[in-house]
This record gives sequence, C-alpha cells and structure tokens, in this order.
Amino acid sequence: MKDTGYDVAVFAGDGTGPEVVREGLRVLDALAEGGPAPWRCAQYPGGGQYYLKTGREWEPEGEAAAARADAILVGAVGWPGATLPNGDLAGRALVLGLREGLDLYANVRPCKLYPGVRHRISGAYSEVWSPKNVDMVIVRENTEDLYTPTRGRLRRGGETEVAIDTRIITRKGSERVIRYAFELARARSRGAPEDGARRLTCVDKSNVMEGCRFFRETFDRVGGEFPEIERDYAYVDAFAQWLVRNPEHYNVVVATNMMGDIITDLAAVLQGGMGFASGGNIGTDHAMFEPVHGSAPKYAGKNQVNPFATFFAVEQMLRWLGSRHADARLVQQADRLERALARTLAEGSSRTYDQGGHLTTSEAGDRVTAAIRSERR
Ligand code: IPM
Ligand code: MN
Repeated sequence: MKDTGYDVAVFAGDGTGPEVVREGLRVLDALAEGGPAPWRCAQYPGGGQYYLKTGREWEPEGEAAAARADAILVGAVGWPGATLPNGDLAGRALVLGLREGLDLYANVRPCKLYPGVRHRISGAYSEVWSPKNVDMVIVRENTEDLYTPTRGRLRRGGETEVAIDTRIITRKGSERVIRYAFELARARSRGAPEDGARRLTCVDKSNVMEGCRFFRETFDRVGGEFPEIERDYAYVDAFAQWLVRNPEHYNVVVATNMMGDIITDLAAVLQGGMGFASGGNIGTDHAMFEPVHGSAPKYAGKNQVNPFATFFAVEQMLRWLGSRHADARLVQQADRLERALARTLAEGSSRTYDQGGHLTTSEAGDRVTAAIRSERR
C-alpha cells in the first residue's frame, strides 16, 4: 500500500482517444469524491496526430513519466497519414513501444457479456448468447512472436522481392505469460460458465509450428505446478469456431502474441463489440491499460463513441494496482466501479450508437458517474 498515492500517466492520444479518456477521468474523479484521491493522474501528449504536428511521437517528459508511473492509461493511437519514415504507425511508441520498453509481457483481455449489452454476432442484435454464456479472460503473450522486430525486406522493388517476419518464441517469454495465466485461473472465483471448471485453455498451432510446440510444452511443464487447474488445448483454427459456438466452455485462455491478437478481437464480438473491450498490458513493475478499439478517426470529435471500454480499462487498472500493492481500497473502488457499470448497462436504455442507441459519449459518462455516486463506498 502506498500512502502517498499512485501516479497514473495518461496519454489520450489520437482520434476518439481524448473523448473516451475524458470520460474515464471523470469516472476516476467520481470514485474519489468525499475523500482524498488515492491516485494522481497527469496527462501527456503523444500519438500520430501529435507526430504530424511536431515530428515527435511523444515528449521525453511523457516517456519518463510513463516509466516512473505506477500505472499508465492510453486512449488510442493511429491517424490516417501519420507514419514514421520506416513505414511504421506513428504513435506506436505509446503502445508497442511501451510493451517492448517496459516489458509488459501479458496482454490481459477480459471478455464478459454484461446483462443489457447486445453481442455483435449479427447486425440484427439477435439475442443468441446471454450473459451467462460469456465470461472469460484471454491472456496474450505481448512481447515476442511475430511482433519481434526481426523483420525486413530483400531485393526491394524487384521481381524477386521478399518480405520476412521472424517468429521468435522463447522459454522465458512463454513461461512467464503462461504462469500469469495459471495464477489468474487460480485467483478467479467463478470458473467456466458451462460447468464452473477452473480451466485454462492453451491456444496454439502445435500440430504445425515448432514455436507452438515449444509453447505447449511449457504450458504442460508450468501446469504441473497448478494441479487444481484443468488443462485444456485447442488448435487456433478450431478455437475460432468453438469460441463462437461454445463460449461457455472458456474460463481463462492463453495464446502467443499474433494468434492472441486475432482471437481477442473475435472474442470482443461476444462481449458487445470493441466498444466494451479493455486490455491490460502487464509486466512485473509496470502496467498500461487501454480501451482496445483504436482511434476511430471517422468518429473523432463527434461525442458519439462508446466509452465503456475505457471505463473497464480504468476498472482493470484499479484492480491491478490494488492487488499489486495489497491495497484493499483500490480493489474496493474497482468493485464499486464494476457494480456501477453493470447497473448502468442493465438499464438497457444506456445504449450508445454501436449498441443501436443514441446515448452520447458524455451522456454515458453522466450515467456512470451518477451510478457511482449512488453506490456505497
Ligand atoms: C492490439 C492492437 C495492436 C496490436 C496494434 C495497434 C499494433 O491491435 O492491442 O491488439 O496489434 O497489438
Ligand atoms: Mn489487436
């Protein structure tokens, strides 16, 4: 527990990032009302639009603040036309750069369908899945695999031009994320919706790829330390169908980076779409939290996008800070926020455009802050 409070470095970033982050900060303020806030938020500029203006993705002060902070909150990065000289996305420093630089090895993506939220399997919002079917956490390796910058281009422009991305899977990188997933499976009170099993599913392509074979071997070895957790296996192609056909089977899922990137967005459809998907990028000493929907340039400045992904990112952040510093105050605040979010969503009338409603970004913030004020501390 930190009596002096926790420092949160905030990067609103590009596009709709500032709009959703503004609501996220209002939610933090509402939680802190009536007492000294156990956190301090400081905002720093950065992203693709900032790059177009200044030629820099962010400032040294922001970078230093992120490295010093107890937690980091990022809105979104990416803007049309904002690319670095090497062709990379401008603003990547805030997402991929922080993952690499602060060694944020576990990408933790909760996927739960709350009552009152419509899954997004079809535009018709058919009520195929009910909240009791969807309640899992996907843990994605976040530092290696095809994301390792071991890539390049040969014979540029010629008939025989080749592009190469190298897939790196290491013992250390696999072991730590797999251990994180087993520990999460142990800590989760509810198991899989289907049968309550404390199940951890390893998603890979170990029938073909060596890196995946290695990942699965590591899964089994580390799993030996967690006899109370059921070990489950799925090849990623089959998983893509089972996830949609049978989501209630899944409790905690662990995957390598690239496959994890894909299956987490697929899973987001089950939780109501990207408007609800938050991600924690978690390392040993640092963590960054983000709504994962991206900057949505088309909607920027319209006060229209769904801020719930940011609210869930804030909840994830408070819960992580609370458990890392054994600070019950923050865990209680995370619980209080989750109750307020669940209550607001259950009111059905609190739908933003992506859910077929007309609630604006700031009105969603109004509803949630009101719900927080009526929740007991
Ligand atoms: C994510 C995003 C990032 C990724 C992009 C923005 C580089 O899709 O967080 O899942 O591919 O990891
Ligand atoms: Mn992604």
